[in-house]
Amino acid sequence: MKFQAIKGVRDILPPESALWNRVEQTARDVFATFRFAEIRLPIFEQTQLFVRSIGTDTDVVSKEMFSFDEQGGGALLRARENIRNFMTQTQIDQNAVAVFRGFVDEFIKRREEAIAQGVLEVDRDAADFFQYLLSSVRQLDELATAGIWNDAELLGIIKLIQQATAYIRIGEGLSLRPEATASVARAYIEHGMQTQAGDVKLFYIGPMFRRERPQKGRYRQFYQIGAEVLGTSDNPRIDAEVIEMLTMFLDRLQLVGAKLAINSIGCQDCRRAYVDTLREALRKVKESLGADSQRRIETNPLRVLDSKLAEEQGVIETLPRIADHLCADCREHFAQLQEQLKLRGIAYEINWRLVRGLDYYTRTTFEITAPGLGSQDAICGGGRYDGLVELLGGPPTKGIGFAIGTDRLILSLQESKKTDAPARLDALFAWIGAATYPAAAKLAARLRQAGFRVELPSEEMKFRKALSLADRLGARHAIIIGEDELASGAFTIKRLADGTQQKLGESELLAYLSADRGN
Ligand code: HAM
Repeated sequence: MKFQAIKGVRDILPPESALWNRVEQTARDVFATFRFAEIRLPIFEQTQLFVRSIGTDTDVVSKEMFSFDEQGGGALLRARENIRNFMTQTQIDQNAVAVFRGFVDEFIKRREEAIAQGVLEVDRDAADFFQYLLSSVRQLDELATAGIWNDAELLGIIKLIQQATAYIRIGEGLSLRPEATASVARAYIEHGMQTQAGDVKLFYIGPMFRRERPQKGRYRQFYQIGAEVLGTSDNPRIDAEVIEMLTMFLDRLQLVGAKLAINSIGCQDCRRAYVDTLREALRKVKESLGADSQRRIETNPLRVLDSKLAEEQGVIETLPRIADHLCADCREHFAQLQEQLKLRGIAYEINWRLVRGLDYYTRTTFEITAPGLGSQDAICGGGRYDGLVELLGGPPTKGIGFAIGTDRLILSLQESKKTDAPARLDALFAWIGAATYPAAAKLAARLRQAGFRVELPSEEMKFRKALSLADRLGARHAIIIGEDELASGAFTIKRLADGTQQKLGESELLAYLSADRGN
């Protein structure tokens, strides 16, 4: 069997990984100058956290999360699957009943073990369904041993047992995180961060998981660099400063052709009225829309504005726009945001259709697109989410943030050749004769402590072979240690670019390598 990375996930190999490190380090450096500090979040959380934050009608929650049952563990889950998958045809014999009983016994045993080990907690509902299961099992046993064999009745009870086990909660629903804003809000509440001085400014770097159809720039495990500001103020200066930080970061990476689009999707109140108006208008043009948009008219009309279908674009342009329906406060907030962006010399476009795919947004939304990416050209999305913390049971809190899709940012940098040459190896040791190895190892340690990149082959090599390896690894120098060098305490250093070589003592060698690196 040949193992391969599964669809939609990938390895990031050297030398590309060096570019990833530089991008992430640049984020750390730039964000620190705005007083952002790193938060490291769990990779999985309760499914409900994402459902509540992101919203049930969103693509992310309704079809893209990787979710699993936990607590009871794999064995309990498998035991339940066996019961669930047991085929109930129209006839059944003693053998089949015995197999099914085996599955049920296994499930009961595993559940008891999990409870005894303290990994599974039982709530009232689960206990009730379990009692129901036990009484159904007794009935099954009585029927199976009764004088008359009755297929229909036996199958009926097996169905009941299958239903009862499906309802017995064997753990909490967990999901791999599809994004991290929900986790930040959860952590903010859990650690009572509202008591900290000033706004809480956090950033995170790491993988996210969405079951999307993989294509260029769209993966099932992808990476984000995100930042969030939580606090008591919703001043648009904060929005502008967050965007300023983002543009400073992208400039530092010399990303070319990035475009910022902004919008306001209003607050709870004015958005509700706008959504009603939009739905009315959509109902009138329903026939000219595709199946997806038709469905969204009722479930989530704002998402129709996100449509990329060419044949829908004409109709969408005629729809009412949110800017004309904002309440006075939201209109003022949006005007101020634009003032603040101008003050900072940040170029932007207004895109009235920028509604974003997650339900927690209020007022400001923004997105950055970059060239060289085809259809998946959004390298960053963000916006304001006042009220999210409250929705999750925390104190009244304002919030704004963004997440950069690192995979896409890297692709765009590669397209525009803003990648760097991999760091070169300073030297490779050509040690000749086993007796020279200890001296080579000691010198290698000294050089590494001084920050040089050196390769010390673990096997002795012929001189020619060592030189050829040095060449293939792109080393600048070969340090040659033979018996002469061992006796004299001076090492031969050969510069591979021009073949010049000289003999140097240890400290001279260090000085020489430093000077040569500077050239
Ligand atoms: P989002 O727009 O869902 O927002 O994702 C942000 C960015 O992550 C996207 O612009 C894109 O670059 C990248 N991304 C999303 N899905 C994929 C994928 N399947 N493959 C590759 N890249 C992807 C959020 O996640 C919000 N939490 C952002 C935020 C933070 N809003 C406020 N604070």
